[in-house]
Amino acid sequence: MTALRPRLVAESALTATQRAHLAVLLVAAFPPYAEMFRDTAWASAAPDYRLWLETPAGAIVAHLGFGHRAITVGGRPLTIAGVGGVATSPPHQGQGVGRRLMAEVQRVLREEAPAPFGYLNCGPAVVGFYRSVGWHEIHQVSRFIDIYTHHWSDDAGPTLILPAQAPLEQWPSDGLIDLRGMAW
Ligand SMILES: CC(C)(COP(=O)(O)OP(=O)(O)OC[C@H]1O[C@@H](n2cnc3c(N)ncnc32)[C@H](O)[C@@H]1OP(=O)(O)O)[C@@H](O)C(=O)NCCC(=O)NCCS
Repeated sequence: MTALRPRLVAESALTATQRAHLAVLLVAAFPPYAEMFRDTAWASAAPDYRLWLETPAGAIVAHLGFGHRAITVGGRPLTIAGVGGVATSPPHQGQGVGRRLMAEVQRVLREEAPAPFGYLNCGPAVVGFYRSVGWHEIHQVSRFIDIYTHHWSDDAGPTLILPAQAPLEQWPSDGLIDLRGMAW
């Protein structure tokens, strides 16, 4: 897997071919959402950037999307990079590709598209993955617009943050995380 190459692409610069390749990956990695990912390469808030790992032949084997947003935590303003659509293509899972992607997003959020912290919500089944690749679970309620009801909803997690430009200690560790829009 050492030959994998990272690519950072702005959402607005994605080609139709790249979007179609992402759809194939997301359909395969998220079978319950296959119908949705056939038509769109994002499920909730649209990302500003795509980060993926590709083979020398250009096949995308792992992907995530992220977007910067000014939020508040306990009423204090903070900019985060909300992350979503994290997926390794099924034949490549369990081989360290997700770990590589997460190391790359931390580098990108420090250097190329800076943000103090990455942020994501996930299901309980993958918390262990994120924990083992540098993310930290936090136990604060997040408020965001539910994509199905379009109403504000409070979510108790799992929620994880990734220190990027800021050290973990700078995360405001109490109070509501108000995403001021949809999650990613
Ligand atoms: C979750 C996912 C991205 C992990 O990618 P991956 O390439 O298989 O992960 P890696 O092989 O790099 O694993 C890195 C580490 O996480 C661990 N890990 C992987 N999946 C895990 C899980 N579900 N629970 C706990 N630990 C997990 C691995 O054992 C490995 O630990 P190690 O290095 O100490 O051995 C991948 O399984 C996937 O795409 N799943 C389907 C889509 C999905 O659920 N995405 C998350 C949406 S929030």
